[in-house]
Amino acid sequence: MTAETPIDPRFDTIRDRRGTNCSKWDGMESLFGVSPEDGLSMWVADMDFAAPDIVQKALADYASSGVYGYADSERGLQEATARWMQTRHGWTLDPDHVLSTNGMVNAVALAIDAYSAPGDGVVVFTPVYHAFKRVIDAAGRELIDCPLRVENGRHVMDFAAYEAIVPEHTRIIILCSPHNPGGQVWRADELRALADFAQRHDLILLSDEIHHDLLYPGQTHIPMAVAAPEITGRLVMMTATTKSFNIAGAHISQVTIADGDLRARFANRKKALATSPGAFGILMAEAAYSSEGAQWLDALMRYLDGNRRLFDKGVNAIPGVRSMALESTYLAWVDFTDTGMDRAEMTRRIRKGAQIAASPGESFGPRSETWTRFNIGMPRAQIAEAVERLQAAFADLQ
Ligand SMILES: Cc1ncc(COP(=O)(O)O)c(C=O)c1O
Repeated sequence: MTAETPIDPRFDTIRDRRGTNCSKWDGMESLFGVSPEDGLSMWVADMDFAAPDIVQKALADYASSGVYGYADSERGLQEATARWMQTRHGWTLDPDHVLSTNGMVNAVALAIDAYSAPGDGVVVFTPVYHAFKRVIDAAGRELIDCPLRVENGRHVMDFAAYEAIVPEHTRIIILCSPHNPGGQVWRADELRALADFAQRHDLILLSDEIHHDLLYPGQTHIPMAVAAPEITGRLVMMTATTKSFNIAGAHISQVTIADGDLRARFANRKKALATSPGAFGILMAEAAYSSEGAQWLDALMRYLDGNRRLFDKGVNAIPGVRSMALESTYLAWVDFTDTGMDRAEMTRRIRKGAQIAASPGESFGPRSETWTRFNIGMPRAQIAEAVERLQAAFADLQ
């Protein structure tokens, strides 16, 4: 570790999560064949850090009451969401327009249900978060694959190419902003080009902004609602506390829809399926959106910045391996293509050689077989260990 990588005991503490019914560690052996005994878990997007004290306290106080009845309202959370978006992202929203769902994937699924019919097309920009495909397929919609291009080491959209890809029966476009995997913080001109595209093709735009707070120095996230106010009538904003504050198990996200008709259709699907977040999620999310939560988040990003630099330096030293420079997220997207290895060999070396459970590239869409996603949201010492293991597993390339 160097002086330029600040250390913080809140994040440096190694927490043994094994045996706690934790998907990330307890699921790694069955999914990847990597033993939690001596393996490192770097797949699913939750971090091995304790949530901010304010969230822990809110939960502990509630837990100690011993009475766990229905929550009365989501008003506090709606207002906290509006305050957070105003102060952190310069987005003014009406708390009355905020609906909470049982997690972000639930929000995406409800929106697909509300705004399209079986057989309709739903656009995604691949490689992208894999649950989009899962819900599109399960809902009997057609996934329209619009590939991102890698340009100067960064994902970019290619609207000229998409014109020919998007069929007439397309109804919805899903944006992942910032992007997972790869961590692009979409720029104003990119968002505006997307808004134009949505208008030209008469599409509803679902903007999944779950990673909006995980920004590295110099990056500014622009909410789609701010970038293109003219598409309010077709825009569904989706945000959450769960990635920012490492409370994914709270399973809650916020859907903000300024347009009355669109909001009514979404609310109606929610009602029809009787789905809503639990009381624990509501109180955790509200506690997180606070000044204490903001301070914790700033410290987290300083720490993750050090992780990102250590990880990238280490893996980029392996010939033929290149980690995409993250602008956001703790999900490093690593290209092994130039090692000349095929998917099976790359995977064998990562899982059997390095004993690391990481997300295989092909789960994010076609053309990514020789990529792997590594979650770097873990104590610095474990990042150093992961780098050492990867360098050893690919040592013959040195
Ligand atoms: C872009 C994106 N959306 C949604 C989710 C998951 O959201 P939830 O657990 O609230 O359903 C993730 C998790 O990694 C994600 O990366």
